[in-house]
Amino acid sequence: MSVGFLGIGHYVPPKVITNNDLEKMVDTSDEWIRTRTGIEERRIAEDDMDTSDMAYNAALQALEDAKLEPEEIDLILVATVTPDTPFPSVACMLQEKLGAINAAAMDVSAACSGFMYAVATAKQFIESKVYKHVLIVGVEKLSKITDWSDRSTCVLFGDGAGSAVLGEVSEGRGILSYELGSDGTGGKHLYQKADGYLAMNGREVFKFAVRKMPEASVHVIEKAGLQKEDVDYLIPHQANIRIMEAARQRLGISEDRMNQSIKKYGNTSAASIPIALSESVQEGKIKEDDNVVLVGFGGGLTWGSIALRWGK
Ligand code: UT7
Repeated sequence: MSVGFLGIGHYVPPKVITNNDLEKMVDTSDEWIRTRTGIEERRIAEDDMDTSDMAYNAALQALEDAKLEPEEIDLILVATVTPDTPFPSVACMLQEKLGAINAAAMDVSAACSGFMYAVATAKQFIESKVYKHVLIVGVEKLSKITDWSDRSTCVLFGDGAGSAVLGEVSEGRGILSYELGSDGTGGKHLYQKADGYLAMNGREVFKFAVRKMPEASVHVIEKAGLQKEDVDYLIPHQANIRIMEAARQRLGISEDRMNQSIKKYGNTSAASIPIALSESVQEGKIKEDDNVVLVGFGGGLTWGSIALRWGK
């Protein structure tokens, strides 16, 4: 059985914070942020919009795209490190908002790799015929765990949600291969402090990512029986343009075939890959039967990559 994407969608809050806005808050500059990270602006959710609300907006789009009713969803997986509350899960909140009365629901915790972990999990449930339709959301309200007085982190992150419905697709399409991994020894480089704020050793995470992203991409390309030249589009986790470039160059992919939504949204952690995928499809950059590589890394440390052939 081939498992793939039946529908996709995304949501970003309307409020834009530019690099110039940040210059007024901390000792930084538009030039530093652009050249070191590739970020030009990010979206920030208002106080009355929590993680589950953004998840809901993205999920509605994915369901509509898949032409499915909420009652037809068997499982909801939400990848997030910024849930509304530790429990109930965002997945359960989403189940209620959607009226997805037949769905089991749980959150997945793998930081920025969360969406990849959720897709791989959904694939198992569908392949084993336990569930037919799995709704996945990668969503973060990182603004609520960001220390807005710390220039080394506050310039990097943004809020948003991306969603997908997974199910059976025609033979030859869908997920061709995947790889998940973790290295708990690096957990200390990216974590939530006791005061609730995000803490990061940027240089260590950078080194890990520059090594892992190309490596994990090559692995799934090989496992899928493809050559690097066969890859039509690359969707790397949108954390830093320099890390993304390292992956792109190693794969020999031209610049126009890599999503760069980091410019507009910054690093939205678990939401970054599904937002990028949804936008790339909506903008016509990914077409039917294109070979696409998704690759992410993040806190844990964790990583995940997927090779897929787009289309139902
Ligand atoms: O989703 C996964 C999570 N995170 C990541 O993937 C992040 C991975 N790491 C990175 O993207 C980069 O390491 C950063 C963008 C976080 C930092 O870039 P960098 O080139 O590694 O800079 P650095 O930390 O080595 O800092 C260089 C200088 C320092 O000043 P000194 O010590 O050279 O005088 C920093 O204090 O830049 C300074 N600096 C800033 N300057 C202006 C750090 N943050 C800022 C800032 N504005 N916002």
